[in-house]
Amino acid sequence: MKTQHRSAPRLAKRIEKLTGSVARDILSRTRDKDIISFAGGLPDASLWQDLKLPEVPPAAYQYGPSEGERSLRSILAARSQSLGLDASADTTLVTSGSQQGLDLAAKLILEPGSPIILEAPSYLAAIQVFKLFQAELHSLALDSEGICPQALDQLLEETQAPVIYLNPTFQNPSGTSYSLERRQQIAAVLDRHDTILLEDDPYRDIAYGAPPAPPIASFLKRCPWIYLTSVSKTLIPGLRLGSLTCSPELFDPLLKLKQAADLHSNRPAQFIASQMLADPQTNYKRVAHLCEHYRKKRDLMQNCLKSSFSEIAVWDIPSGGMFFWLNFKNDFDLSAALSDALARGVAFMPGAPFFAESKQAGCCMRINFSLVSPEKMEEGIRILADVVRGLQQPITCADSAL
Ligand SMILES: Cc1ncc(COP(=O)(O)O)c(C=O)c1O
Repeated sequence: MKTQHRSAPRLAKRIEKLTGSVARDILSRTRDKDIISFAGGLPDASLWQDLKLPEVPPAAYQYGPSEGERSLRSILAARSQSLGLDASADTTLVTSGSQQGLDLAAKLILEPGSPIILEAPSYLAAIQVFKLFQAELHSLALDSEGICPQALDQLLEETQAPVIYLNPTFQNPSGTSYSLERRQQIAAVLDRHDTILLEDDPYRDIAYGAPPAPPIASFLKRCPWIYLTSVSKTLIPGLRLGSLTCSPELFDPLLKLKQAADLHSNRPAQFIASQMLADPQTNYKRVAHLCEHYRKKRDLMQNCLKSSFSEIAVWDIPSGGMFFWLNFKNDFDLSAALSDALARGVAFMPGAPFFAESKQAGCCMRINFSLVSPEKMEEGIRILADVVRGLQQPITCADSAL
């Protein structure tokens, strides 16, 4: 048969803004290869190698409610209430991962050109969603306690943004956890403006010291809010389950958007999650074990970084979550570093995709410590340091004469 040229499909204008996820790109290049990957945000699979999942009853094979299973909604709402949120099962929606919560919230709030405020750096797949909805992204720099409340106040005044997206607890990618005072100050600023808080909180339970301060949403008095959680980081990500709890006026439109998106989240997965989360004692022990496991990995990573990177980079030790964020003292070509590192069997995430505008990024990288085994971690960091040093070599007189 003769091949004919197909005419170019006429796609929605917003597709021009659709970017691929750099992290998933690197992950697909490293999958099935013997690569030491510090690139993703993947849990350690050794934690669940002996895990026996509860058996799923045939009743869970049928279509179910869009809101999610009542048993799971009640468990998730109780957790939100324990954090001080004004939540109930009726205002809690089971989502297909917290990523779906981001998508539904963006659909609900953003029009082409809508301003949205976010942290610099911020979660890259959230940036991907907001760009797809053609929002105008405005960033606020993070310091060790969070974004600056005065700068937020001013930016809200200037942009009249309808929404702000924050990941204030063990942030992806920087590891920053906002102080209690900052959270309260930010809540007070938001209460003075007509802005929705979209708070993303998937890492809260992975704490290596004192529990983190309550969510910012718990301090709000009048500002509408949407609070996202996930079972991906503390249970198993393949279930693809998360939750969205919100102030009551937002629930109905979000539920309708969920219906339009996928009718409901996977029911067998919801059944498994509710069985596994039902007993608070068992759950507490499981999460405590997971935190201890990751804390040891965090400490080992800190030692590896200290011996290989302390002269060339600075970083904070994360008090929770899964990432170190390195800022380099001198610039070098991060794409060249990624190619060289991949060629030598190591992957990492360059910093630029975590910024709304890549030119806002300094010379920085995100290093994940949850996935890689202790032995591989030491080897991988040695190789990475070697690659970076190779690219940072000052040009000698002999080189410059060439
Ligand atoms: C900040 C943040 N939000 C949302 C997600 C999406 O998680 P989920 O697996 O629940 O969709 C991630 C995953 O890495 C994340 O880091």
